[in-house]
Amino acid sequence: MIGIYLSGTGNTKHCVEKLLSIIEPGAEAFPLESDISIDKIKESDSIILGYPTQFSNIPYMVRDYINKNSSIWSGKKIFCVSTMALFSGDGAGCAARLLKKYNAEIIGGLHLLMPDSIGDVKLLKKPVDKNHQTIVKTDEKIERVGKKIREEGIYPKEGLSFLYHMAGLFGQRLWFYNKTTGYTDKVKVSDSCVGCGLCSKLCPMNNLEIKDGKAIAGPNCTMCYRCIDNCPKQAITLLGKKVHEQCGYEKYC
Ligand SMILES: Cc1cc2nc3c(=O)[nH]c(=O)nc-3n(C[C@H](O)[C@H](O)[C@H](O)COP(=O)(O)O)c2cc1C
Repeated sequence: MIGIYLSGTGNTKHCVEKLLSIIEPGAEAFPLESDISIDKIKESDSIILGYPTQFSNIPYMVRDYINKNSSIWSGKKIFCVSTMALFSGDGAGCAARLLKKYNAEIIGGLHLLMPDSIGDVKLLKKPVDKNHQTIVKTDEKIERVGKKIREEGIYPKEGLSFLYHMAGLFGQRLWFYNKTTGYTDKVKVSDSCVGCGLCSKLCPMNNLEIKDGKAIAGPNCTMCYRCIDNCPKQAITLLGKKVHEQCGYEKYC
């Protein structure tokens, strides 16, 4: 088994790595954007695919990756893991339905509550100790689920049924549908940018470049929030107008 994940602020990376270490100690997880992820999928029978929920949907980069590499999924056993800050409805089901179209076998679905990652929106912000508690509880869930898989071969089916599908669709996805149908060109860089280049190094889509000492954002943002949550000058925003908190798993764990 291997893990493949998209993770903006580290939540999903942590969850996939922890789950994998319990199910199959020593097995490795790779970021979606790494050069070797496709070869690793081709070599493996079973895969944990992890991603953050975005507006009760999968990030467009994950959808695009699945579609562009449509031939590699046939016959693969896939366990879809979706992390979220509040509610996803059928977060795991969104990737599962797409992967089934390419003849993958969906062996399970799991929803994991983690701290919020949207640095420029105040709404879901919690004190550090509350975020820490969320991680502790989720770690306990991962341990329970991982043990059941390792010892009994039983996978959870969260997000996969028709009821979950309806919850995701009507709970949120329908109202925000336009936000998840493609990449966005709405990333803004303020004058406080000093052109340090960190954002362009971090971006999984290579969507930021430094020109004349300032970061310029292109049209292919997948809303992972890695640049926004790490910019040393808090110069980058997307959904909000200013950065309220630079979120990240490492700050709360
Ligand atoms: C653009 C965007 C949209 C999000 N939408 C949702 C959502 O619909 N429901 C939810 O519970 N969390 C939502 N979140 C929160 C993330 O899913 C959550 O914090 C996740 O664990 C982040 O994982 P990461 O650190 O691996 O990127 C959203 C985050 C972003 C950046």
